[in-house]
This record gives sequence, structure tokens and C-alpha cells, in this order.
Amino acid sequence: MCGIVGYVGDRQAAEFLLEGLSKLEYRGYDSAGIAVYNGENIRVEKCVGRLAALREKIKDDVPQGTIGIGHTHPHTDCSGDFVVVHNGIIENYLALKEELIEKGHAFKSETDTEVVAHLLEEVYNGDFEESVREVLRRIEGSYSLVFMCRQHPDRLICTKQDNPLVIGLGDGENFIASDIPAIINRTRRTYILNDGEMAVVKKDAIEITNRKGELVTKKVFEVNWNAEAAEKGGFEHFMLKEIHEQPKAVRDTMSQRIAKDGKRIVMNELKWNADFLNNFNKVYIVACGTAYHAGLVGKFYIEKLARIPVEVDVASEFRYRDPIVDENTLLIVVSQSGETSDTLAALKESKRRGAQTLALTNVVGSSIAREADQVLYTWAGPEIAVASTKAYTTQLILFFMLALYMAEIKGTLPEEKVAEFVGLLQQVPAQISETLSDVEPIKTFAKQYGFNEDVFYIGRSLDYDVALEGALKLKEISYIHAEAYAAGELKHGTLALIVEGVPVIALATQKSVYEKTLSNIKEVKARDAVVIGIAAAGDEELEKYVDHVIRVPETDELLIPILTVVPLQLLAYYAAITRGCDVDKPRNLAKSVTVE
Ligand code: AGP
Repeated sequence: MCGIVGYVGDRQAAEFLLEGLSKLEYRGYDSAGIAVYNGENIRVEKCVGRLAALREKIKDDVPQGTIGIGHTHPHTDCSGDFVVVHNGIIENYLALKEELIEKGHAFKSETDTEVVAHLLEEVYNGDFEESVREVLRRIEGSYSLVFMCRQHPDRLICTKQDNPLVIGLGDGENFIASDIPAIINRTRRTYILNDGEMAVVKKDAIEITNRKGELVTKKVFEVNWNAEAAEKGGFEHFMLKEIHEQPKAVRDTMSQRIAKDGKRIVMNELKWNADFLNNFNKVYIVACGTAYHAGLVGKFYIEKLARIPVEVDVASEFRYRDPIVDENTLLIVVSQSGETSDTLAALKESKRRGAQTLALTNVVGSSIAREADQVLYTWAGPEIAVASTKAYTTQLILFFMLALYMAEIKGTLPEEKVAEFVGLLQQVPAQISETLSDVEPIKTFAKQYGFNEDVFYIGRSLDYDVALEGALKLKEISYIHAEAYAAGELKHGTLALIVEGVPVIALATQKSVYEKTLSNIKEVKARDAVVIGIAAAGDEELEKYVDHVIRVPETDELLIPILTVVPLQLLAYYAAITRGCDVDKPRNLAKSVTVE
């Protein structure tokens, strides 16, 4: 969940390590540490709390040296000659620890990382690379690891398994990091390590080998993010910047996928045909969190337009319920980061069972992107805030295009209907902009209701799917207990919680179930709830039954979820501001959950 950094070159390592860790702080940190070789020994400095606490601790005596590593907890062996930083889980660390204790190793912590450091000390035979390779043969689990050794102060060794790690290529210096934002100010030229690959990184040479020890030649991956894109662009928080980036993100995700004549979808990345689609008797969409909520909408689109049955599941449930997956299964995984451990594991398990796999992800070169048979990228640009916003709307637009593409192949939609939808799609960026143009009412609601401890989101059909996403946004950044409920389910329990003054966000945009939703709204109003209605622009009815109305531009009810989520994102953002929460780095959460 936290970030790893490494430096080897001619400059002071500590300078990059601290800078790199600060760029990765959005991943969630509860402590920070750096280890630097100072010409004699490896000096380790670590501190509980935010990175600022570590900076304060070492400000008068910064570790000197031109090679080092950083993370939350760099761990050493008994002698201090070996230091390791690690993300992920070593699943067999307890058994290894017992073995090492029997051999006399003394442990300072309960972590699996420290076991790796002592294991390296145990197997070390003078050959740093070979000893690390022996360690990798002994450990099991998902990890990204960087090793330092006092006896070999000119090199770092790093490796990964189901956990991200990139190498930044400098001029007379090289960088290692969990994620691109940590190195983007130093270099845009990178190597993306694959599972099982091990890199020996010196300041002027990098040697990469595979599990068998064979040399691997890597293509340089040019990072096209500019440094500014990874900064806040004048907004107070990354989250607000990313909410306002949605028109561009959606436009970028659509471009290259709409035919020149503007009448149909092209998916150059897929090249599917009827035979390919007819081969499947089951389609799963599997993801976590917001990506899962996007999957629910994706299901609706694919079933509605392409008439193919789809099952949606959270990855952490899917992988443990012995799912019915075989060569006639199409598995679609959705993941902004492309590194979510449960989603990656579900992908691997499905591949093992013979499924065809497609990934919808926002990060080029991510573990999920490289594991899936085929990939569709959401071109949303880096999403730094823990709360996912532009990734969600670009996932929805991508799912809609995929459903249209599948419908064209299956012949379930007439050409003119496809053309009509493609025309509507192209209006969405401007409609999002319009929705973003007047945030004042939402700020007011956030101030008025931001101190409530319970908020309910209700809706039917696609409105319910968006209600789930709206509730998650509010929970994760304002810490208000928010619950989304299928409006038709209220009388089966939740209505007992609706008392005077309870805020209820009621989404009522789906014409096919509008009257039913209205009757549910009347039920909560009859119990004196405060109701904020979310309606389409042309709806003059809803305001008669609610306390406030937020309108989004009129469009086809299938596309309206891409618009209705925007006021819910803003409501969560301003509620969090009202409550003085740390919007971009909410407590207990990380941007990318790379451990189970
Ligand atoms: C969303 O706001 C949350 N940060 C979280 O639910 C997130 O969507 C989930 O962890 C999945 O992440 P991914 O899309 O990177 O796989």
C-alpha cells in the first residue's frame, strides 16, 4: 500500500528518497524511513507519522551518501549489512522466521519484511545477486522488493511479483520507485519490471534477468505525463482537479474509438468478431470499490445493448467462491491503478481456468494491463486522489462504447440506433462541463448537511448503481456513514432508519422506473426526511416532492449516470471540506490496495 523508492548515482540519495516518498504519500503512509550508505555503513532513519516528521527528525543531520532506499520501514538483518524495503505480503514468512530464529537470528519487529533481511544475511555467500536469487527461491507471496548490501555499495537489487515497481533511467544515476509520480521530476524514461524479473541497478548500468537468470532486454517506456499533470493544477486538492478534469478525460477516452464518420465505434485494440463473442456462455465483470460500481453499470449496458448476460462480482469474493470459469468465459476486470491485488488475483485465477480476459485500466504497463489477454485503457491521466472520480466516469464511457461495439458485432442494435448513441456520446464532455459550471448549490447542501452522521442514497436501476458510488465517495472522504439502497427495498428494512431530518439523496433519472422512484421518495418524505433530488434537466415534477433538486443535462437515460455521479462527487468533496477532512489522503485508505 505504501511507496518504495531507491537511488544510485552521484548526488545525495536522501534528497531524492524524501522527494520520491512525498510524491507517493497519496498511497497512504503511517510512517517513513530511509537507508543510505555513507561510505562505511548503511544508516537507517525512520519515523512514525507523516513524512514531514521524518524530515524534521533528520533536518540537522541528513544521512550522507549517494546510494539509498526509502519506504515506511526499511528493515535490516542482525549485522546491519543488509537492508530491505518491501511492499506486499510474504505468505510463508512465519515458517522462515522460525527457521532463522533457530539459527540464531534476533528479530526487532513482527514484520514479514524483516524476515527477508535476515534470510538474505543467512544465505549470503559473497555474491549479492546470487544470494538475492536464493532468497527469491525461498519466499512466497506478492511483493516488490529493493535490497541494499554494505559489501556491494555500488548497486541496488530490485524485483517484483504481483506488485508494481519501475526503474527510472537517469544520466549517471538511476531511480527505483513503486509508481511513476515519484520519479517523473527526474526522468521520463523507465523500465517497467515484469513479475519474476530481477534488476541490478548501478548508477551507470542496469542488468535485468528473469527467474532463470537469463538476461532480459527491456524496451524503454517513455512516460508521457508531464510533471504539472501530476500536480494539482491550481486546485486545492487533487480530487477537485480530477473531478474537473472529467470532460477532458472522457473526451480523451472516447477519441480514437469513434469512427471517422461519427456513426460507429472502433476498438482497434480488440478486433473481436461474432465467432469470438459467440464462443462465450458467461461474461463476468470483476473489480473492487469504485471500479466495481462501474462494473455494475457496465453490466447494464452490455445486457441492454448487446443482449449478453453478465455477472458482476467484487474481486475479493469472486476469487474465493470457486467461480464457474472455463474457456467459454469472458472475464472483464476493471481497475484504475491496474495494481489492486484482489483484482489481479481474480484475473490470474480466471486465466488459469482458461478464460479469455479483458482489462479496463488507467495505467499503461500496470500489472493488470500486462496480465490480461487484451486491454482497453481509460485515458484519464494520472488519478492521484484516493477517491476515484475521473476513473469512474471514463470507465462508464468505455463500458458504453464496449457495449455498443459488442452490439454491432452481435447485430442486436440497428446501425441507426448505434449512430444515434454515438452522437449522444460525443455530447457527454460538454454536459459534464455544464454540470460542473454551478457548484454553489452543492456547496450549500454540503455545509447544511455535512455534519449529519447518517446519509442515505436511494435510486432504482442505473440510479441505484450510481447511488452506490455516491455513498462510497461520501464515506471515504468525509467519514459520514452513508448507505445506498435500492429505492424499492426501503420498506424491507431501511425505512425504519428514516426519521425527521435524515438527509436522503434520491436519484430519479430513469424514466422506466420514475413513478416507482417517486413513490419511494414520498415514503421518505412522509417520515420527514430531508430529500435532495437528482433529476434530468427537463423534469419539472420532482421538485414538488423534495426539498432541493440538482439537475443534470438531459440525455438518454443510459448515459445519464455519467452525469449524475458528478454532483455526488462534489457533494462528497465539499462535505469533507466542511468537516475539515484530509480529502486527498483519507484516513486508513490507500490509493492502490496492492495487498489483500
Ligand atoms: C474509490 O474511490 C476507492 N479509492 C477504492 O474503492 C478504489 O476504487 C478500489 O480500491 C479499486 O481500485 P482500482 O480501480 O485501482 O483497482
